[in-house]
Amino acid sequence: MQLLDGKSLSKKIELTIADEVKEFKVSSGVVPGLAVMLVGQDPASAAYVGMKKKACDRVGFYSVTHEMPEDISQETIENTISMMNNNPSIDGILIQLPLPPQIDETKILELVAPNKDVDGFHPFNVGRLTTGLDGFVPCTPLGVMELFKEYDIDLKGKNCVVVGASNIVGKPMAALLLNADATVEICHIFTDDLKKHTLDADILLVGVGAINLITDDMVKQDVIIIDIGINRADNGKLVGDVDFKNVSNKCSYITPVPGGVGPMTIAMLLKNTLKAAKAHAKSRI
Ligand code: GUN
Repeated sequence: MQLLDGKSLSKKIELTIADEVKEFKVSSGVVPGLAVMLVGQDPASAAYVGMKKKACDRVGFYSVTHEMPEDISQETIENTISMMNNNPSIDGILIQLPLPPQIDETKILELVAPNKDVDGFHPFNVGRLTTGLDGFVPCTPLGVMELFKEYDIDLKGKNCVVVGASNIVGKPMAALLLNADATVEICHIFTDDLKKHTLDADILLVGVGAINLITDDMVKQDVIIIDIGINRADNGKLVGDVDFKNVSNKCSYITPVPGGVGPMTIAMLLKNTLKAAKAHAKSRI
């Protein structure tokens, strides 16, 4: 069994991005900028946003976080996004999800300018991904694809089973795998007999948020496992969706939690923001 080490790969990517940022600043005079919107007091969201901000600092981006109260109105959020859309110092916009229940999330995500949509959640970018065109791809599944590349894992013709069909992870993950010529199955909360599907997987990707959802009897020998879940166990430790202790014995490769997909998500946010900044600099010339 080999670990897919997202922690070290993300560090390597960050160093490359930091070098590129230095060059870009010299050649264009532009500092890449990311604006993050954080609504409410959810500790997990606040922790993610804090990590994203620190990562921006490490690679030399400008970043600003708009912290807004839980009872914020739709109109105030919309006005803030319009301001970010029109601010030339901002290349990337990230709305940390989830948003409170009074907010129409779809409308908010559709308001983000597609060329600043570094999370890849705007329907324009979702459409480009599903048609295999260049655009912004959601950071978590993009990070998984970088892990496959780094470890020379060939996807062509492989049976990939994605468990979880969220807009943030499962659906874009499936689209990327399909674009890479894998055979893709998507399982979700209404899937009957999950084990029947997971046993078929050459590569099993799980992003549900359920501790020990995948046990060793549910996977075949030498499976590759990508654990995209992040859960807080009773003992306070971070764990994924896979029973790592028992399942890892059967794997050829597996991502640890923490230190697998999580750090890759942040590295891909940096990558997307630099891509946005480069595109904007070009359009200014
Ligand atoms: N909430 C959980 N994951 C994510 C993510 O990748 N991006 C944003 N914006 N919010 C999230």
